[in-house]
Amino acid sequence: MISLAGGNPDLTSLPLTALGKSAQAIIAQTGQSALQYGAGQGTEELRTQICALMAMEGIIDASPDNVAVTIGSQSALDTITKILCNPGDTILTDEATYMGALGTFSGYQTDVQPVRTDGDGLIPEELELRIRALQDAGKRIKFLYIIPNFNNPTGITLAARRRDRVAQICRAANIFVVEDNPYGLLRFGGERLPALRATNRRGVIYLGSFSKIFSPGLRIGWALLPPPLVQKFLILGGSSTLCPPALNQMLVSAYLRDFDWQAHLAAAVATYQLRRDAMLAALDRCMPAEVTWTKPEGGFFIWLTLPKSIDTHALVHRALDDNVAFFHGAAFLPVPQRSNQLRLAFSAIPAETIAVGVQRLSRVICDAIGMAGGNAAQPARDAGTDPDEP
Ligand SMILES: Cc1ncc(COP(=O)(O)O)c(C=O)c1O
Repeated sequence: MISLAGGNPDLTSLPLTALGKSAQAIIAQTGQSALQYGAGQGTEELRTQICALMAMEGIIDASPDNVAVTIGSQSALDTITKILCNPGDTILTDEATYMGALGTFSGYQTDVQPVRTDGDGLIPEELELRIRALQDAGKRIKFLYIIPNFNNPTGITLAARRRDRVAQICRAANIFVVEDNPYGLLRFGGERLPALRATNRRGVIYLGSFSKIFSPGLRIGWALLPPPLVQKFLILGGSSTLCPPALNQMLVSAYLRDFDWQAHLAAAVATYQLRRDAMLAALDRCMPAEVTWTKPEGGFFIWLTLPKSIDTHALVHRALDDNVAFFHGAAFLPVPQRSNQLRLAFSAIPAETIAVGVQRLSRVICDAIGMAGGNAAQPARDAGTDPDEP
C-alpha cells in the first residue's frame, strides 16, 4: 500500500541521538519541574522563543504575555471556537479547508460558510460580498479561518497583495481573522510572505505549531492573541487541558536553544521539495489530459481536479484495491457535497514511491473517466510500467 493520504512530516533529518540525550538531561537535571504541572500559559522561555520564531514570519511586535502554549495548534483552534462561537454562529473559510478545523467547528454546532478562492487564495471581493450577504440575512459571523501558506488541502498560498485587504475587510465588518500557519516556514524558494498578523495586530488571532517544523508527537502549538482575549483563552483552554506538558515544552526549548534547528529544517524542506518535484513530474507523466493540479511552493499537499462527472469519494475504495490511498475532496468542504477533487500528500514518502503511487492512481482515474464517458481514458503520456508489478 502506498499512502498519498496522510500529511505526516518527515523526521529523518532530526538528530535523534542528541535529542535523546537532551531529554535525559532535562529529566535528570530539572525533573522536579519537567515532570510537574506547569503554568497554564506555558513556560516563559518557550513563549519568548515563539516570539522570535514569529518574527521570521514578519510578526515583530509579539509579546510573550500574549502567547499561550497549547496542545498542538488544534487545541488552540478548539479554545478559540469555544470562546467566540455560540451554536448557529457563522465561520467563514476558504473553499476547501483543513478537515480537523471543520471537525472542531462542527463540534461547536457552528454554521461554516466557504468563500470563493482561486489560484491566489481567498478572493477579497468575494469575501466582501459574502459577508454582506450573510449579515443581511441576519447571520452572526464570528471569524474567518484561513491557512494563508500552502493551504491544507490545496497547497495554495494567499497572494501578498491580498493579505492586508482580507484583514481590513474582516476588521471593517467586526470579524476576527484566525490565521492558522503551521506550514509558513516550509517554503521551497522565493520570499517568505508576511503573516496577516504582521500588520494587523488587533483583529488577527495567529496560530502556530511545532508539528511540521519539529515533531507532531510532542503536541506543542500556540496562539498569539489580541490582549483582550488572553485571560479568556487561558481560562477556557485550561478547562480542558489544565496546562501544556512541561517536559515537551522544555524539549522544544532545548531544540531551539541548543541545536542548529534551522539547518535540520532546511534539510527537511529540501526533502519536501524533492518529493513535490517527484509528484509533479509523475502527475505530468501519468495523468490524463482532463486532470489538473496545483503547484505548491511549499508545504505538504497537491490538489487535483478531475472532470466534473467524477465523484472522488467513489474512487477511494477502487484506489485502495490498487494499493494506493488518497483523501477525497469532500472531506475538506465546509458544506457537504460531492467533489471531483482530491488531496495528495508528498511529505512522508520517498520520491520513487511517490512515482509508483501516482502511477497506480492514474490508472484508477483513467478507468473512472472512461466509465463516465470521458474521451481520454489514456494517460496523457506513456506512464511506463509499475516497477512493483510483474
Ligand atoms: C492547517 C492545519 N492546522 C492545524 C493542524 C494541526 O496541527 P497540530 O499538530 O499543531 O495540532 C494541521 C495538521 O495537519 C493542519 O494542517
